[in-house]
Amino acid sequence: MKQSEYSKIITLAKRAVEEYKNWDEEEISTDKENSVIPEQKMTKNTIYPKKNKNAGELLEDLQKQVCNCKKCPLGKHRLNAVFGVGNQYADIMFIGEGPGFQEDHKGEPFIGKAGNLLDKIIEAMGFSRQSVYIANIVKCHPMKDPTDPELRSNDRPPSPEEMSVCKPYLDKQIEIISPKVIITLGASSSRALIQTEEVISSLRGNFKEYMGIKLMPTYHPAALLRNPNLKKDVWSDMKKVLSVLKKG
Ligand code: URA
Repeated sequence: MKQSEYSKIITLAKRAVEEYKNWDEEEISTDKENSVIPEQKMTKNTIYPKKNKNAGELLEDLQKQVCNCKKCPLGKHRLNAVFGVGNQYADIMFIGEGPGFQEDHKGEPFIGKAGNLLDKIIEAMGFSRQSVYIANIVKCHPMKDPTDPELRSNDRPPSPEEMSVCKPYLDKQIEIISPKVIITLGASSSRALIQTEEVISSLRGNFKEYMGIKLMPTYHPAALLRNPNLKKDVWSDMKKVLSVLKKG
């Protein structure tokens, strides 16, 4: 290996360690200006060009279908369908459970506290929010009281029925984007894709496969906010993802 390549790797590794140290929730700003669909941006860890040339158009068509979807009751009460954001050529796709209050209001996934922590994880991996793709299993806000989308603390996990009705949209997104690695965040999204009842603490950290793509289950960022001790496990899972991407 050339000296310059070696120095570059050392610099990247040092930066990743620094970013990782900054994952503390005290560091998280809650009003991050991240609420518009971001422009595409190349970063050092993104490999272009590749894959489906029509990905943008296909995603737009699919988004229209999702925005008109009334296949389950969630579609009736949501304020906005939360389709997904990021790069249509992303190598990594993060998949959460479903939109919460803030996501429902803005129409973008992972923009609350947990979303800000997810951004930090992505940055620690050497990517940006704009260079990966972020989506959820269900595209509409599951609410305890669906008649009041303005009510705080009204979030609930999606039911198995809601997930199975909505999952074909996610499958189509995965097919169009065709990422190299899928990262499922938390038990709901991991179980929905892997079809298992295993607990997330034993699922995480071990590669599975979904639609022929490597899938890494890990903890949901909201779990890290509740229990910061889990951050080291997530970082270990992300390092495994990075090493798979490096191998190509
Ligand atoms: N939690 C999720 O699983 N998804 C979001 O979009 C926000 C919070």
